[in-house]
Amino acid sequence: MVYVSLKETLQDIIRGETNFIANAANFSSVLYHGLSDLNWVGFYFLDGDELILGPYQGKPACIRIPVGKGVTGKSVKIMRVINVEDVHKFPGHIPCDPHSNSEIVIPIIYKNQIYGVLDIDSPLLNRFTNRDVDEIEDLLKILIDNSDLTSLRKYYE
Ligand code: SME
Repeated sequence: MVYVSLKETLQDIIRGETNFIANAANFSSVLYHGLSDLNWVGFYFLDGDELILGPYQGKPACIRIPVGKGVTGKSVKIMRVINVEDVHKFPGHIPCDPHSNSEIVIPIIYKNQIYGVLDIDSPLLNRFTNRDVDEIEDLLKILIDNSDLTSLRKYYE
């Protein structure tokens, strides 16, 4: 099962390092190269009332997204995962890479504070099952639980 191997890889890479930016950069790489049919994996962090682009793998992306706009901004506003089967049917979707057809956005929440989102795009329609979402949430938890989010918030304030 690909997720078992990804979990072990992430634990090995993150062990001993608490810098969130460094760990998020490696997290993006591990998922981008480890999961099939993805064209973008990365992070947006809260910067006031906007999201700002963080570490990612894929083509250059939109830099700032207002909270409430796009899939990412909406996920922050409602503090919930959004799994979009077809981005072309999502009102307000912000197209950064024209090859994206489906997308999941998972908020980064720690102790009831939201810090940003993990965003993953696929060129396939309906790429992400509920199982994928659960597994990716578990992987994100490894990153969040083992990295210093407090410093991230200070950095972006
Ligand atoms: N599609 C996102 C924007 C970010 S890119 O996909 C990397 C959105 O609608 O918020």
